[in-house]
Amino acid sequence: MPLHKHITSMQFFNRASIENLFLSAEKMLFIKPEEAKQLLKNKTLGVLFYQSSTRTRLSFETAMQKLGGAVIGFADPTMTRSEGFFHETLEDVIQVVSQLADCLIIRHFQPEFIKTLLTKPGIAPIINAGDGSNEHPTQALSDLWTIHRYYGGIDGLRIGLAGDMTTRVLRSMLLGLTLFQPKELLFLPSSGRLPKETLSLLEKTSLPWKLYQNINELLTNADVIEMLPFYLPNLNKAGNNSAPNNLATPDHYRLTKEKIEKTQSSAIILHPGPRLDEIATDVDLLPQMLYFKQAKNAVYIRMALLNKIMN
Ligand code: CP
Repeated sequence: MPLHKHITSMQFFNRASIENLFLSAEKMLFIKPEEAKQLLKNKTLGVLFYQSSTRTRLSFETAMQKLGGAVIGFADPTMTRSEGFFHETLEDVIQVVSQLADCLIIRHFQPEFIKTLLTKPGIAPIINAGDGSNEHPTQALSDLWTIHRYYGGIDGLRIGLAGDMTTRVLRSMLLGLTLFQPKELLFLPSSGRLPKETLSLLEKTSLPWKLYQNINELLTNADVIEMLPFYLPNLNKAGNNSAPNNLATPDHYRLTKEKIEKTQSSAIILHPGPRLDEIATDVDLLPQMLYFKQAKNAVYIRMALLNKIMN
C-alpha cells in the first residue's frame, strides 16, 4: 500500500505500510551521515506550529537536517499574520507555504483541519503533528516502532494504555494497535471508564481487552505501558492552557519505584511527554523506562517518513 499523500490519520495505514516504515527507520538508524545528507538535499520542509511543542517539532527539524534538507516555518503563530489585525486563515497559510516547501508539518488546535483542504489544488503533502484532540499519527508510529524494536514485534504482547482515550496520542495509538495482534489491551483510563468511541472501535476488532483501576494491575499484567498525564489541557483550544494549582496525580494512577519493586514488573514504560508527576523521577534510570529513548526513536521514524514523502 503506497503512503497516502497526506499523513493525517493512522486510518491511512495498514500493517504492511507500517512494517515497511519500520524497515526504513531501521535503515535510517544505520545509514552513514554523509549518505543521509544526500537524500533530501534539495528539499524544504515547512514546519507550522499553532500549538506549543518540544519533541515533535524539534525531532521533525532534526530529521530533516539529518537528511540534508532545509527547514522553514514558525513555532509561535503570534509572530505571523495568523494573529493580530489580519487573522490569516490556516487555509491561506497552507497555500502560501506550499509554494515554498515540499512537505508541511502542521500542529493545529482544530481537529481534522485537513478535511477542509483536501479539495484545494497544489497544496504540498501535509503531516499531521497533532490536530486538536483528534490524532497524532507520527507519535503512534514512533511508539509502535519503540515497542517493535524492544520486543522484536508487537503481536502477542500485553499492552497497557493509561490516560484519556479521547486524546490524540492514545486515539492514534489504539488505531495503530488494531492493525497488529497484541495478546491483550489493558486500559487504565483517567475517567475510570472507556468512552463510547473506544468501545465501538474495540467491538469492531477481535482484540481481547480489559479495564483496570490501578497502575499496580498494569505493572503486574502488561509487557508495555504507555502512560499519559492524568490531567491534560484542552487541546482543541488556541494558545497555551495554564495549569490549575495543585494538580497532583492520584496515587492509584501514579508510577513510582516502590510500585515497580513491589510488583516486580519488567514492563517497558512509554510516555509521549511532557510528563507531569504521573511518573516519579526516581524511576528514570531503570532500564525499562524508554520515554527518553522514545523521543530519539521518533527522529528515525520521521526521517523514514520524510524520505518516503519527498523522494
Ligand atoms: N509527544 C508530543 O507531542 O510532545 P510535544 O508536545 O512536546 O511535541
